[in-house]
Amino acid sequence: MNRVPTGIPGLDEILQGGFLEGSSILVAGGAGSGKTILSTQYVYKGAEQYSDPGIYITLEEGTTNIWWNMKSFHWNIAKMQQENLIKIYRVGMFNPKDFAQQFDTEIGKIKDMVNEMGARRLVIDSTTAFGMFMSNDADIRYNLFKLINEMKKLNCTTLLLSETFGKRDQFSRFGVEEFVVDGVVALYFFPPVRSVLVKKMRGTDHDKRVHPFEIGPNGVEVNASEQVLWESLNK
Ligand SMILES: Nc1ncnc2c1ncn2[C@@H]1O[C@H](COP(=O)(O)OP(=O)(O)OP(=O)(O)O)[C@@H](O)[C@H]1O
Ligand SMILES: [Mg+2]
Repeated sequence: MNRVPTGIPGLDEILQGGFLEGSSILVAGGAGSGKTILSTQYVYKGAEQYSDPGIYITLEEGTTNIWWNMKSFHWNIAKMQQENLIKIYRVGMFNPKDFAQQFDTEIGKIKDMVNEMGARRLVIDSTTAFGMFMSNDADIRYNLFKLINEMKKLNCTTLLLSETFGKRDQFSRFGVEEFVVDGVVALYFFPPVRSVLVKKMRGTDHDKRVHPFEIGPNGVEVNASEQVLWESLNK
């Protein structure tokens, strides 16, 4: 099976080379745990190192925030946008009364963008934001499944961000997202230590330990040779 390298130092090592092509991965973590930076890096490095076109879809953070991150790490986003390798797409607010139809329209727009660019990597920041428009867990599960399926048909490898309360044992906000996706990567920040755990990865083995990571001048760097004890993470 083909792997999609994340381009994030250390992370590919604990993933045995990257994500399985076409898989859907939940990136879960509390506020400020590094979800947006890690995912921006996945799209940026994908374009820079592997010439993979990618789309960063945001419901949560303004496109300026994504720009700040790219600039802060000296990633040349403008060049990538000019070369049609990266697109940042901001989804408008949904009207809860008419969610189903607007959701289908947005999926349609994303599909058109993917086809037009030949996108291979997608980020959806975040599933928590779109779950807020749904009234129950069954709806969240159904819509998430629908979204993931569409992205799979396009053969995109998709990161879906999930905002948790940052606890050790919480892997999604609504408690259902982690079951719909193929993989879960949990990010923790218990100051001053940042750490990452691959909680699940359907169809492949992976490292089961918690590893420290840093956000440095080049973005996220995972230390694959060191570990953080599970017991040391706050419950
Ligand atoms: N240039 C930088 N160098 C080092 N650390 C940084 C840099 N920029 C941001 N950070 C750290 O990364 C954190 C933000 O990471 P990020 O935006 O990826 O979090 P997030 O998980 O998406 O949070 P939220 O749920 O609030 O959107 C900041 O709070 C800061 O601690
Ligand atoms: Mg974020």
